Amino acid sequence: MSILITNIGELVGADAERWVIEDAALVIDGDRIGWAGPVAAAPAADEVVDAGGRAVLPGFVDSHAHLVFAGERAEEFAARMSGRPYAAGGIRTTVAKTRAASDDELRAGVRRLVAEMVRQGTTTIECKSGYGLTVADEERAVRIAAELVDEVTYLGAHVVPNGTDAADYVRLVAGEMLEACAPYARWIDVFCERGAFDADQTREILAAGRAAGLIPRLHANQLGHGPGVRLAVEYDAASADHCTFLSDEDVAALADSETVATLLPGVEFSTRQPYPDARRLIDAGAKVALATDCNPGSCYTSSMAFCVALAVREMRMTPEEAVRAATEGGARALRRTDVGHLRPGARADVLLLDAPSHIHLAYRPGVPQVARVWRSGLPA
Ligand code: NIG
Ligand code: FE
Repeated sequence: MSILITNIGELVGADAERWVIEDAALVIDGDRIGWAGPVAAAPAADEVVDAGGRAVLPGFVDSHAHLVFAGERAEEFAARMSGRPYAAGGIRTTVAKTRAASDDELRAGVRRLVAEMVRQGTTTIECKSGYGLTVADEERAVRIAAELVDEVTYLGAHVVPNGTDAADYVRLVAGEMLEACAPYARWIDVFCERGAFDADQTREILAAGRAAGLIPRLHANQLGHGPGVRLAVEYDAASADHCTFLSDEDVAALADSETVATLLPGVEFSTRQPYPDARRLIDAGAKVALATDCNPGSCYTSSMAFCVALAVREMRMTPEEAVRAATEGGARALRRTDVGHLRPGARADVLLLDAPSHIHLAYRPGVPQVARVWRSGLPA
């Protein structure tokens, strides 16, 4: 089954030399991109879709989300908006509700959020555990995530659960819990932050994760300065996420590494924190990605378009930089070469916008602009 999308006003991410091609066409061949080029040269296909001059982009790659949870924390958000600061401890509220939920309730919650993401143009989704914090509850979180998303991250080290000794918990996370979760996950993550896990604990957990075949990524420098970013680089993490409080040394370390700085501006929006300095990172030569961090505490948005708009307005990224960070940046943060672009051979994750260009994602914030989405070549 092949689909020709023709009369594309602006085709994004389909040509290695030119990120945007005008008056273009694209062929989906099964679950892959088969061809991209000028309308006049387009081959025939089983089905033809007329884009009517609108823009076609790679689906968004959301490389950071926490979707396996029960309940919500709207009251905590409201309190924050009237002045209470965000603290890592709120995670424990969600842990209690998540432990009390059935597998089917958790599964339904993940399904609902995945559907919400896909409707908004996200076609690759990463999801972390981290609201279980017992061997059985973390194991079920990664198991359910593995049923429903592309990339699964074991985040037993989200916070030390109430009533548990920190050193005992780190041993559990790096031992029995890791063993139970590793079969379902590709990644290991630690919330390296004051109030969560310190440098020594982070090292112990990342080293054990690596020995179990998982690849590190890190929650780093979200709430204050700290060792997270440099540990991410030292452990060759695929990504250091948040990067809100960075020293010159942190920026230089990222710039000099393959570790992607994943910026999550929805969090700063929802916690009233300063935005990360994207310009400083990009200008220094660091690789950046944008992701939602969709979770019930620090940021309950599933919209990559919202994150793109924030990145442009509040972080001084150009629309091109922001859309690239939300597509190829996310793919790099997940070490994926098959998504985040539309060059022939890519997975056919295609987004038809109800707008003539990618700029409209930031130019018309909050407006639904997704006309159609294909995921692996199938209408989503
Ligand atoms: O990425 N920072 C740690 N974890 C999440 C927040 C989780 C929560 O507050 O429930 C984050 O911001
Ligand atoms: Fe997070």
